[in-house]
Amino acid sequence: MRAPSLKSSYRLFWMTISEPRSPGPSPAATQPPPALARRFGGRSNVFSAMDRAKAEARRRHGDHLIDLSLGCTDQPPPPQVTAAMAQALGQRSSAAYCLHAATRPLRASVAAWIRRRFAVAVNPDTQVLLLVGSQEGTAHFPLAVLEPGDHGLVLDPGYPSHLGGLQLASARIHRLVLDPEDGWRPPFTSLSHGEREALRLMVFGFPHNPTATVGCQDWLDEAMAMARHHDILVAHDNPYVDLALDGEAPCLLCSPGWQERGIEFFSFSKSWCMGGFRIAFAVGAAPLVQALQQVKAWIDFNQSVAIQSGAMVALDQLEDWPARLRRLYRRRRDHMVQALAAAGWPVTPRPMALYLWDRLPVAAGAMDSLSFCLKLVRDTGVALTPGSGFGAAGQHHVRMALVAEESRLTEAAQRVEAWLNTF
Ligand SMILES: Cc1ncc(COP(=O)(O)O)c(C=O)c1O
Repeated sequence: MRAPSLKSSYRLFWMTISEPRSPGPSPAATQPPPALARRFGGRSNVFSAMDRAKAEARRRHGDHLIDLSLGCTDQPPPPQVTAAMAQALGQRSSAAYCLHAATRPLRASVAAWIRRRFAVAVNPDTQVLLLVGSQEGTAHFPLAVLEPGDHGLVLDPGYPSHLGGLQLASARIHRLVLDPEDGWRPPFTSLSHGEREALRLMVFGFPHNPTATVGCQDWLDEAMAMARHHDILVAHDNPYVDLALDGEAPCLLCSPGWQERGIEFFSFSKSWCMGGFRIAFAVGAAPLVQALQQVKAWIDFNQSVAIQSGAMVALDQLEDWPARLRRLYRRRRDHMVQALAAAGWPVTPRPMALYLWDRLPVAAGAMDSLSFCLKLVRDTGVALTPGSGFGAAGQHHVRMALVAEESRLTEAAQRVEAWLNTF
C-alpha cells in the first residue's frame, strides 16, 4: 500500500481531532448559553448595527464607502512626533513594561503644558496620571470612586464611555437631558435637591461630542459650585480642548474646587492626530488621581516609552500645532454646510471642529436616526452616526465627522441629495 501523501495524512489528522466520532447534538445545542453580566443589559446596539451595515457596504462597493461616522481624523500626526517615536523604538526600555515611575518625564511635560496653557500649577507627582486614552480614563474612573449603587450623572446625549464607565461600576445612572433650544447647556439647576444630595459623581465634557458645542467656563463653574455644595465629584472629559472654532474651550482646572473634587481628562488623539497610538492623561485632585492609578495598576501597564517620547514632543514643542487642524476643519465645515444646503438639507455650522450635528432632514419624515443612517449607508455608501448612539435625546439627530477631503464631502452631499429626492 502506498503511503498517504503529506496532504492527505494532514487531512486525516485534522479529521481525527476536529470531527465528532458519532453524529449527535452539538454541545452548543445541549448547553444553555453562558450567563453574562447583567450590568450591560442596557447597552446600545446602535454602533454595532452601523458597523455591520458599513462592513456590508464595504464588501459590496469597496472604495465607494464615504465613512463620516467616526471621529477619527484622516490627518497624519506631526512628523516630529513620529520621528521621536521611531527613534525611541530602538531603545530596550521601549519594549519593556513601563511602571508609573518611568512616566515621570511625561508627567513633568504635562505639568509644564498646563502651566503655560491655563496658568495653573499642578504637581506632576501627585496630580497627573498617564492614560491609554481619555476614553479609557473616563471608563475606569467610576470604578475608582464609586461603590455599587452609588449615583452617577451623565449627559444625554453624551459620549458612550461616560455612561459605560458608570455601568462598569454598577452605578445608578441619572441622565441630564440637553436641550437644543437652550444651546445644549447642561441644565444642572433642573436637578432637585434630593437628586443633588444623592449624586456622588458627574461625568461630562465640553467641548462636547456629539453636539459639537464648545460650552463655556461658567457652565463648569456652575457644576463645580454645585459639586462643592453637595459633595459630588466631577470628571471632565476634555479631549477637544484645542478644537474650539468659535469661543474658548472651558477647562475644569480653571474652576475653583478641582483640587478637592475634580479630575480632567486630556488626550493626544484629537489635538495631535495620535488616536491610534493611544495616549492621554488625567490631571486632578491628588486622591482621585491616586485612586484611578490604583485601578489601572490592576488592569495594565503604561504606554510604551516610545509613544511617550512622541507625546512629550507634542506638548513641549508643538503646542500650537492644533491651530492648523482648526483651519482645516473650519474650511471643511463651511464647505459641507454649503454642500448640504445645496442638497436641500440646511445644517447649522457648529462652533467646535471635527463634527456637524443637526436634526434629520425634513424629507426623512418620521424615521428615527438609526433607521435613517442604516438606510443611507446601504443605499448610498455614505456613513453618518445616528444621534441615538449617544442617548435617547439624540434620536432625531445625526453626527457627521468631517474626516474626508472637501471633494469627498461634496460627493457625500451629492449622494445624499440624490437619495433624499427619492423619498
Ligand atoms: C468625548 C470623547 N472622549 C474621549 C474620546 C476618545 O479619546 P481617546 O482617543 O483619548 O480615548 C472621544 C473620541 O471621539 C471623545 O469624543
